[in-house]
Amino acid sequence: MSSGARNGVATPERRARGAARPTKVWAGRLSAPTSEQLERYTSSLAVDRRLGADDVAGSRAHARMLRSIGVLTAAQHRAIDAGLRAIAAELSSGVFTVSPGDEDIHTAVERRLFELAGPVAGMLHTGRSRNDQVATDLRMWARRACTDLLVALAGLQEALMTRAGEHRTDPMPGYTHLQRAQVVSLGHHLLAYVEMFGRDGLRLGAARLACDELPLGSGALAGSTLPLDRERVAHELGFGRIAANSMDAVADRDFAVELTAACALTMVHCSRLGEELVLWSSAEFGFASLPDSLATGSSLMPQKKNADVAELARGRSGRVIGDVVALLSVLKGLPLTYNRDLQEDKEPLFDAVDTTAATMRMLTEVMSAVRFDVAAMRRAAADPALQATDIAEHLVANGVPFREAHTIVGAVVARTLAEGRTLADLSVEEWRAASDRFRPGVVRLFDPDAALRRRDVPGGPGPRSVTRQLARARTIVARTRRAAAGG
Ligand code: ARG
Repeated sequence: MSSGARNGVATPERRARGAARPTKVWAGRLSAPTSEQLERYTSSLAVDRRLGADDVAGSRAHARMLRSIGVLTAAQHRAIDAGLRAIAAELSSGVFTVSPGDEDIHTAVERRLFELAGPVAGMLHTGRSRNDQVATDLRMWARRACTDLLVALAGLQEALMTRAGEHRTDPMPGYTHLQRAQVVSLGHHLLAYVEMFGRDGLRLGAARLACDELPLGSGALAGSTLPLDRERVAHELGFGRIAANSMDAVADRDFAVELTAACALTMVHCSRLGEELVLWSSAEFGFASLPDSLATGSSLMPQKKNADVAELARGRSGRVIGDVVALLSVLKGLPLTYNRDLQEDKEPLFDAVDTTAATMRMLTEVMSAVRFDVAAMRRAAADPALQATDIAEHLVANGVPFREAHTIVGAVVARTLAEGRTLADLSVEEWRAASDRFRPGVVRLFDPDAALRRRDVPGGPGPRSVTRQLARARTIVARTRRAAAGG
């Protein structure tokens, strides 16, 4: 497009001629003024505004490359670059204003460049389409989002690890089906979340790798007749590689799906942690309480203290799961290459990233400040029924096949329940009446601390195992921090 053909600028002559609004980048082909309803309907500016800084950075790299291959003279490049730098400053200081006719951030930046640099602005879009431009901008944005998410994730992992270290040997009941099952330690329980969030770190790292490919130079879909130096642009923008197929490059949003999906699974983990906080801070459990600064009250019931933040972590996971579905639904069935449907990629991606980062930061503060009632947990862990399996394994150690041992102990459990007694109330004689394989030590199996010490199998809740897990947690946090630092 020659600079003369670019008639979207409100030049003095145009204003003198009374042009109602700036015309469009496609004005050579479509002469009728665009319907205002269509403009409102198709505009993405409210959403893609936040790509502004990346858009300018991409344009600056593109312009430098155009200069290097001789498409721009040094003077033209200087003028364009000065304009782009001014726009970057306007964007970061918040004074950048959009015009009614701006369709998206890309056309808004280009319009502003015309205002600042004059007709030479019309040379910037040489060898470029908004199709490869928007894909490039979004990849730059998403790559940085991965880094931000990894920073937030490392904070959450570290808070969980710190609390786990404080409660390495504090017994609590572990649950299956939300029924008391066996003794674990609070440290062990919290470290389960470090494992989950550790996997999220790997997924976010992989998502960032998926983003790390430069579409620019792919044009609308079929590259360019100009000798574009794509490697140079990739290097300048910090992309590890250039997209290998121009059609794939402009149509692909897999990186956005991968990042959104990584967010969704992270949010599912946040939701499960939120659910535990809700349960633990109920009177029924009484295992945890939030400091007043992190709790909320009721407008009606004066006594209420609620864990709304944990509930919102749980509730917002639903929206992020929806974001993945929304993105996949946009992509499903799209013929190659670019289709305007792809404009709908940004809202779900931005929402997923924003929600996940905010949730992780909130939960970091919550996990750092939540007060655990270790005495209440210990009382619950002292329930003798939690040792039923250990009693069966005591029989196994004395030569009874496990299935048989299970039946013997099950019958004792049923009898004591019927008699209103607990397993800890039985004498050695009573145990031996159930099976002569019981040894006198069976009556000493009910101490929850001893129960923890018995479970030092690798990966178990025993103190030595938890110490090993804490060492591993430190490597997980360090790995996440390295990934956040760009490693
Ligand atoms: N706002 C558009 C988007 O986000 C930019 C690309 C428009 N390209 C086009 N050929 N209409 O997808």
